Amino acid sequence: MKNIAVFASGNGSNFKAIIDAVQSGELEATIALLICDKPGAYAIERANAAGIPTFIFNPRDYQLKEDYEKKILHKLTKVGAELLVLAGYMRLIGPTLLTEFQGRIVNIHPSLLPSFPGKDAIGQALAAGAKESGVTIHFVDEGMDTGPIIVQESVSIDENETKKSLQRKIQTIEHRLYPSMLNTLLARGEITSDKKARTY
Ligand code: GRF
Repeated sequence: MKNIAVFASGNGSNFKAIIDAVQSGELEATIALLICDKPGAYAIERANAAGIPTFIFNPRDYQLKEDYEKKILHKLTKVGAELLVLAGYMRLIGPTLLTEFQGRIVNIHPSLLPSFPGKDAIGQALAAGAKESGVTIHFVDEGMDTGPIIVQESVSIDENETKKSLQRKIQTIEHRLYPSMLNTLLARGEITSDKKARTY
């Protein structure tokens, strides 16, 4: 069983979908750790309820990103995390973690990248008058939502679409797509800490 670590900053509904998939056996993995940069985030309660260990920190307590990422790296090494799963983690991953986990960090984003990267992708799509948007799961590189795309799924944006209704459509896809894609990725055997064996 592969150990994964989930990174979240807020509500954690994707985190919950991943927990449920592990519990039902749909996702063959162990959630070894939740990393959260927002003390008080609801994702932490979800971790506690599921008995998942947490590392919670406040970036303001550190001078540099490197300082808290070193701490995260230490925790990840301790639990033997093999894949890092970003699920609403609202920070860029820095060189400390990228170097160690190159090709082993994935993110989910609520648009069809490369359209609407960054914050409030759903609001951006509506403001642009887009007729469709969707969900992208991609590997993480040093950019903002720029890494190699693994899978995408689209939704239509209706005439009377609101932010709430579009968010609901997108999250319904996310909660199905993320666990199933993680299972496929882990089953393919490409996620390994052997740097030479990594492909994407
Ligand atoms: C999701 O829509 C995800 O695509 C984006 O942040 C949101 C997190 O939602 N990266 P939640 O915290 O999983 O409910």
